[in-house]
Amino acid sequence: MSNPVAATAVGPMVLAAVEQYEPVQRRLVDDDMALSFLPAGARAFTRIARWSVARRLLIQATERSGPGLWANLTCRKRYLGDKLTEALPDIDAVVILGAGLDTKAYRLARHSAVPVFEVDLPVNIERKRSVVRSALGATPPSVHLVPVDFENDDLAAELARHGHRGDHRTFFIWEGVTQYLSADAVASTFEFLRSAAPASRIGFTYVRSDFIDGTNRYGAESLYRRFRVRSQLWQFGLEPDGVAAFIEPYGWQLTEQAGPDYLTEHYISPARRKLTASQVEWTAYAEKR
Ligand SMILES: C[S@@+](CC[C@H](N)C(=O)[O-])C[C@H]1O[C@@H](n2cnc3c(N)ncnc32)[C@H](O)[C@@H]1O
Repeated sequence: MSNPVAATAVGPMVLAAVEQYEPVQRRLVDDDMALSFLPAGARAFTRIARWSVARRLLIQATERSGPGLWANLTCRKRYLGDKLTEALPDIDAVVILGAGLDTKAYRLARHSAVPVFEVDLPVNIERKRSVVRSALGATPPSVHLVPVDFENDDLAAELARHGHRGDHRTFFIWEGVTQYLSADAVASTFEFLRSAAPASRIGFTYVRSDFIDGTNRYGAESLYRRFRVRSQLWQFGLEPDGVAAFIEPYGWQLTEQAGPDYLTEHYISPARRKLTASQVEWTAYAEKR
């Protein structure tokens, strides 16, 4: 894929797919559709990980290029999935911003008719449509694919055009996306979120701003070189202490944050995995007042 930002959709799903080869009690995230949503090349590569030695080598190589990222990327999916399951009885719709190749919408459609809106760049929406067609035959009637560029497009208008109702209590997921955006695009997305129905929820991830500005690399030098020096794909960051104040003016109240200690306590230690979670990326969970 020629658009380097759109291409980042593959990585998290490779990790989720590889995790499915772990015995169930060691698995950091459950996702029986992950492998089938991967492009053919990535799928073939991922299948090698069914051998535990290959899996160990793959995890070690990923950890060398971004220490802690294996745990973060798999556990953030687990955390957001758990929060969605918990909130399901009290919400009317789900909006997944920057959905990439994520499978939540399709796993949810197996047992719920709640409308789900998957938003991403037009190129990734087209790709998702064809991935879903090959994996499942057709897009489930409850799932709506919405092409939007957060930098330029009117998110509210596009969601409304695809049937999202502003008065619906909505569970928003914005996973692995904010760092790829300009501060203006993050602000305009929160401007849209200001009008979300009371009792809506949001789970979003962010990269620490001291990593973005280079003052603290958290031992992830090659990650820094890759995303901040060579490609400069990562632009936006927040500090954990500043999240509550950042979202409060838009009418959102921070409920919880899942940083590395949370991920270790809730997911990594119970699975008896010898992995360390990274400080670089955190997940915030908030409710609309
Ligand atoms: C690292 S991937 C994460 C995908 C998915 N949320 C996950 O965690 O598996 C980042 C996603 O954000 C999307 N994205 C980045 N910039 C965007 C923009 N300006 N407008 C819409 N989507 C964007 C990319 O196309 C990509 O699918």
